[in-house]
Amino acid sequence: MTEPTPPTTAARGAGRGLFIAVEGGDGAGKSTQSARLGKWLEGEGYVVRHTREPGGTALGRTLRELVLHGEDGSVSPRAEALIFAADRAHHVATVVRPALDRGEVVITDRYLDSSVAYQGAARALGHEEVRALSLWATEGLQPHLTVLLDVSAEQGRARRGRVHDRLEREADAFHDRVRQGFLDLASRDPDRYLVLDAHADAGRLAEQVRERVTPLLGHLR
Ligand code: TYD
Repeated sequence: MTEPTPPTTAARGAGRGLFIAVEGGDGAGKSTQSARLGKWLEGEGYVVRHTREPGGTALGRTLRELVLHGEDGSVSPRAEALIFAADRAHHVATVVRPALDRGEVVITDRYLDSSVAYQGAARALGHEEVRALSLWATEGLQPHLTVLLDVSAEQGRARRGRVHDRLEREADAFHDRVRQGFLDLASRDPDRYLVLDAHADAGRLAEQVRERVTPLLGHLR
């Protein structure tokens, strides 16, 4: 009997490491929480690779500049989706997978869900299409855990203060669709998400993240 041929796009696992994504709308406080988590893990003796999208590689920094800092209308929605996917493909291939293969903890500020929420939901390019594009780009790599810092459009706007980039400049209705996009993803796969109210006290949020991450560390020891 012949073995079935494995699909060429088969999902590849996360090596020996632990892969955590921190997601949420603009102004949700992702970088604060991921930095706190990383610091705590390092204190516990783990090797942590803290990274981000877009811009976690040299190529990614160039792509980040192109996609975020042009004039309004300078990047068409499909081009935008492809640039984020290109950034992700290179980031996973050269930073994330190698670190996971070494058994490290990788914490990324934003990952695939940002594309589904911003390009799929808010730009209306389609949840499934955008997700499939990123899964192709990453050869199926998914986080063990996604921490979603849920923020309303209004709270996010108030918290981010000065507007930095093309996407932050979008109207509240856009950011409402982003929020709903994230919440839809979390509700489809609750075991792999920790959804927190971004408005809560930062110290309390960090505690909740540590509680959720602790049991995941078992297989790294
Ligand atoms: P981020 O680096 O979190 O913003 P900043 O450092 O300026 O606070 O993200 C930059 C923007 O890119 C943000 O508005 C969300 C957007 N984005 C997408 O639209 N799709 C994606 O796939 C990713 C990763 C980010």
